[in-house]
Amino acid sequence: MEVLVGTIIHSTWDNPMVIMDKSALGIQNNKIVFICSSDELHDVKQKYGFSEDSISRFDKGEFIMPGFIDTHIHASQYVNAGKGLDLPLLCWLNQYTFPSEARFSNIDYAEKVYDKVVRRVLMNGTTTASYFATNHRAASLKLCQVIARYGQRAFVGKVCSNQNSPSYYIENTEEAVAESESFIKGVQAMKNDLITPVVTPRFAISCSFQLLQALGKLKDTYNLPVQSHLSENKEECKQVKKLFPDSAHYVDVYRKSNLLGPQTVMAHAIHICDEELEVLKRTETGVSHCPNSNMSICSGLCDVRRLLEKNIKVGLGTDVAGGYHPSMLNAIRLTIITSKLISLDRPESYKYINYKEAFRMATLGGAKDDRTGNFQVGKDFDAIIINPTCPDGPVDIFPEDTLENRVEKFIHLGDDRNIKQVFVAGQKVWPRD
Ligand code: GUN
Ligand code: FE
Repeated sequence: MEVLVGTIIHSTWDNPMVIMDKSALGIQNNKIVFICSSDELHDVKQKYGFSEDSISRFDKGEFIMPGFIDTHIHASQYVNAGKGLDLPLLCWLNQYTFPSEARFSNIDYAEKVYDKVVRRVLMNGTTTASYFATNHRAASLKLCQVIARYGQRAFVGKVCSNQNSPSYYIENTEEAVAESESFIKGVQAMKNDLITPVVTPRFAISCSFQLLQALGKLKDTYNLPVQSHLSENKEECKQVKKLFPDSAHYVDVYRKSNLLGPQTVMAHAIHICDEELEVLKRTETGVSHCPNSNMSICSGLCDVRRLLEKNIKVGLGTDVAGGYHPSMLNAIRLTIITSKLISLDRPESYKYINYKEAFRMATLGGAKDDRTGNFQVGKDFDAIIINPTCPDGPVDIFPEDTLENRVEKFIHLGDDRNIKQVFVAGQKVWPRD
């Protein structure tokens, strides 16, 4: 048994931010076995029979929170993070993204980039990431190996595209399906409980209906999650309508392909009608909200409140490199700002997303299964230890700041300097020994 004593912060479905001062968290076999106030420590000590040696007490002012869950990030695009944001989606893909993803046919190049991105994402407190790799099976498997080396939890997809793509970066249908299946088997052969392969059609424009359907079958055969893009950009939506005239709308293309469901996460969902929302709800499909990307490549503002009111599960994504920032703290901040911008031309009754709700979306909201997202008993211990007052750090705390003020300041001003330690499934994965 390992017991952590200090300030514990997490979300539940009833409460977006539970702040427990002077509390204790017990971990055994990498899982949470109890969470209680430190007044109850004496009783749990007797119940579980652990000694004082098992207890780590965190310094006053530090807090323990669940690791962030990035529900949408292109690991391969990290080379472009922070550059080339002057074009709308479809031009941006052709001019910057496809040429740079094509370079991942070179496995040594892939390993160098993947090492940098996984390291960066982990040090920013992301304990689970849902990664897009590229079309290349070998490099996608290399990404999984790098993730395993760092001990991060991840969902990883070999990207599929068989149409409307440049000749130097396209597969045929059979190839896309066979390579995806081989990738899935390759990941499963790693026998790493923390890494799950994901069926990953790039988006409807770059996949024929035949390919989408084949991937829908693959998802069922292996009972796997699915990730893709949905209604991100108006021009994209127009082209999807033209390419799939038999579908009622964009969501219907994926529905007809058997790609929706409780294990599916669609990024963006900005320009969707109520009927599409209804299908997402009925199929329990999740949405990854990626505000940095939506504003950086001028795709639009997603009304997350509308999705939440429909009871659609919403997580947050950095969408590197459409989004320029790999930190989920940035995704939280821009979720709040996007929602405040939307509120400006809504009735006064419109409630923008506050920092507590955005924190929940960045943790519990993005959890695909019952293993992560908060500190509920029985879950794996995926956590970050925060020191809001680290020397020369970005946050200044004043004597009048309450505990809640300190959390709010970390959410708005903090960065990786404040993230003292990162744990995945009970193991310390950052800083590396
Ligand atoms: N739609 C299809 N591919 C992509 C991509 O790489 N990034 C984003 N943001 N949208 C996409
Ligand atoms: Fe994306």
